[in-house]
Amino acid sequence: MGEDLRFPDGFLFGTAASATQVEGHCAQSDWAAFAREPGRVRGGDTPDDACDQLHRFREDVALQARLCMGAHRLSIEWARVEREPGEFDPATWDHYRDVLGAHRDAGITPMVTVHHVTLPRWVAQRGGLLSQELPALLSRFAERAVEALGDLCQLWVTINEPNMLALQAHLLGVWPPARSSPVEAVRAHQNLFRAHAAMYRAMHEAAGRRGHSISVGVAHHLRVIEPERFGRLADRMWAALFERLFNDAFARAVCDSGLHDFFGVNYYSRDLVRFSAAHARAGFLRRLVPEGAEVSDLGWEIYPEGLGYVLDAWWPRARVPIYITENGIADADDDQRPRFLVGHLAEVARAIARGVDVRGYMHWSLLDGFEWAEGYAPRFGLVEVDRVTQERSPRPSAELYARIARARRIEADGPGGAQRERGAAPA
Ligand code: FCB
Repeated sequence: MGEDLRFPDGFLFGTAASATQVEGHCAQSDWAAFAREPGRVRGGDTPDDACDQLHRFREDVALQARLCMGAHRLSIEWARVEREPGEFDPATWDHYRDVLGAHRDAGITPMVTVHHVTLPRWVAQRGGLLSQELPALLSRFAERAVEALGDLCQLWVTINEPNMLALQAHLLGVWPPARSSPVEAVRAHQNLFRAHAAMYRAMHEAAGRRGHSISVGVAHHLRVIEPERFGRLADRMWAALFERLFNDAFARAVCDSGLHDFFGVNYYSRDLVRFSAAHARAGFLRRLVPEGAEVSDLGWEIYPEGLGYVLDAWWPRARVPIYITENGIADADDDQRPRFLVGHLAEVARAIARGVDVRGYMHWSLLDGFEWAEGYAPRFGLVEVDRVTQERSPRPSAELYARIARARRIEADGPGGAQRERGAAPA
């Protein structure tokens, strides 16, 4: 007998995206400038047009509705809203009101991320993530966002993946400002925590003044981290250190301070960690996938069980409802995504059955978008986007996800059933 996996009433099935990766047409951000520098982005791609969602959001919301999506996580582009320090563009707020209104009319619950990777250029010029002003600037923007949009959105994320942002921008040097300094990475990480705390308070104060009821959390990037060679002390120490600094530091600080109303989990993969003298720039840390493991188009290990581990590990610490704020796979031909989707959703359903309070799952992503330094090469979309015509074509996995969302269950023997995720060949 196969396992019958169900999701409770009210569980939100949705998709996730960020402004820069899909909207297009924002020249004022640090990424617009960074992508123009030779060698920064694979293939010389830029976020200039992205998926043109700025103009096509109604079409995309209609697509989400057709795919039975009950939720969508999106971000607001700081550089577009606050073009000059302290000057908030009313037309851009109106645009985001239209976007959220379209979701409301389609019966789709929005989740808005205030900061997702990019900065206005003027913030970058003032020191970006390292600027002493960052907490004040971000909390002012967050406060304005709640004032402008708080009647249309209840679920808010302050910052997306602060750990990944500090790592990529200030240690690995692959995101702006492309620095390689462990000291800076730690400082950026700490500053982002200060910013989150200030944003959390400012957003609740603004909501209180306006009579809006909001829930605020962080989207934490959490990985499964294991030593490559259990018998090697150095590997174990480096795995423990990486776990501590990358997974734990920020998320624990948020949990311990109680400055969150829900806990967001972005889960993608597992790393085997090896101490490597040849990787000094990356903190002597080399990340590997287990031999023979199935990997995505980006070489990331497909490891659904890891989501179950992450949920079990964080639920007792978080003590607030959990949302899967991102989970997805780069898979251009969509031959792995169906199993990926079912495998990870099955882990969520099992965690719920064990008593973990997971309220929703947002798949990354609805569309193929601009994937930062990897450009448009990785295809994360449930829906394929033609780079020339911008035409949207749902992949088979989108229809599978729609069926699961409609039925609120994964049928053991049905299409994409729980069996398949345990390795049996697809029917
Ligand atoms: C996450 C980012 C998101 C997207 C996915 C693939 O780390 O939050 O913007 O690029 O990875």
